[in-house]
Amino acid sequence: MEIDLSGALMKQFKKAKLEYEKAKENGNITLAKKKALECSKLLKELAKYDSYNAKSYLEKAKKWQLVAENIDDVFEPKAKTTKSEKKSMSSQPKQSEEEDEIDKFKNYVKNNLIQKSPVKWDDIGGLEEVKRLMMETIVISALQKPKSIQPWKGVLLFGPPGTGKTLLASACAGSLDATFFNVKASSVTSKYFGESSKIITALYEVARELNPSIVFIDEIDALTTKRSDGVSEASRRMLSTLLTELDGFQDKGKDLLVLTLSATNTPWDLDEAVLSRFPRRIYIPLPDKEATKEIIKINTKGLELNVDLDEIAERCVERLYSGRDLKNLCQEAIWNMIRDVNKDLYELAKLPYKELRKRKLKTRPLTNDDFEEAFKKIKSPLTKKDIERYEKWGEEFGG
Ligand SMILES: Nc1ncnc2c1ncn2[C@@H]1O[C@H](COP(=O)(O)OP(=O)(O)OP(=O)(O)O)[C@@H](O)[C@H]1O
Ligand SMILES: [Mg+2]
Repeated sequence: MEIDLSGALMKQFKKAKLEYEKAKENGNITLAKKKALECSKLLKELAKYDSYNAKSYLEKAKKWQLVAENIDDVFEPKAKTTKSEKKSMSSQPKQSEEEDEIDKFKNYVKNNLIQKSPVKWDDIGGLEEVKRLMMETIVISALQKPKSIQPWKGVLLFGPPGTGKTLLASACAGSLDATFFNVKASSVTSKYFGESSKIITALYEVARELNPSIVFIDEIDALTTKRSDGVSEASRRMLSTLLTELDGFQDKGKDLLVLTLSATNTPWDLDEAVLSRFPRRIYIPLPDKEATKEIIKINTKGLELNVDLDEIAERCVERLYSGRDLKNLCQEAIWNMIRDVNKDLYELAKLPYKELRKRKLKTRPLTNDDFEEAFKKIKSPLTKKDIERYEKWGEEFGG
């Protein structure tokens, strides 16, 4: 029956109802339940203000109450099986206990694993091809498209340490203004031993709730079975939950953007189960000469470079410097310059903070000498052999 409903309460009710429907669509049981209860409460309020329709409002309020109480039936059983462990499947009360527990983990995820991502594509030097690939992946995921076109849900970034994998993941999130979940596999398993798999379940529930989302799983190799040091039970469980999430039963048919990016320095440790969920595997190499120049410029922004940049970049490439090494090199060079022109720096430590705030740090353009000193301090841990190993793996498994 259609009734003429108006006023602020009605507006709120309509909003809550929409939110309930959205939560239902996203498979978010907890939120749907909350919204159904809100609908019921608002209708009861409405009944107080509109005695003519009070009866009908109260009836509707009751219906919403029932929806909230039986919320589990609204969702298909499939969504439940993946998030509950077999032992707790049989009894109803256990089920809701589990839901409560997942809520607890969801709060943990919201408070600890979400990061603001200020990184923009321009903050990344070089990697033009990779940046383009990632932008395309994101754009395809976001655009409206026919059902037959399935974008990548999982992308693996592999390469030596310090080459910009984490940076790329944050730039993806930053450019999309997406929620960015930054998860280091080893720290989740070591800190939350038995609970690590629940954290993953909660993580993806939150990611769907707050989509668009980028889930970044760093050091994914820590979870796989091919590692020589063996993996713990916690890792095994976390991995199996993660793989289930990546198979994406939960968001099938729903128009959500939840992209999982993972990173590793040892791609050869990954087993078939993991690799198959990351069909897109992108090599993030050491920077070449041009990229090196760009990264040096990014890391000396605001300062003049009075140096032979080509020569410096060639040396960096020769010495197998990663982006991180380059950043450290620049910081060392900047330090050298600062010490050079602010000879009395340590003496100023005597001054109170207020006095210090009034003074200005002296600077001058960076010179070859500043870099010369810095070169002595920065050593890459990599050898040519290491790089060959990445390239070889990339040729065989990358793409
Ligand atoms: N391509 C790049 N452009 C600009 N800065 C870079 C680049 N690569 C690395 N850096 C610098 O090095 C730091 C480390 O990079 P990042 O954390 O992205 O490396 P990573 O590949 O994730 O390393 P790891 O494998 O050790 O986790 C960055 O914060 C940034 O300052
Ligand atoms: Mg990293």
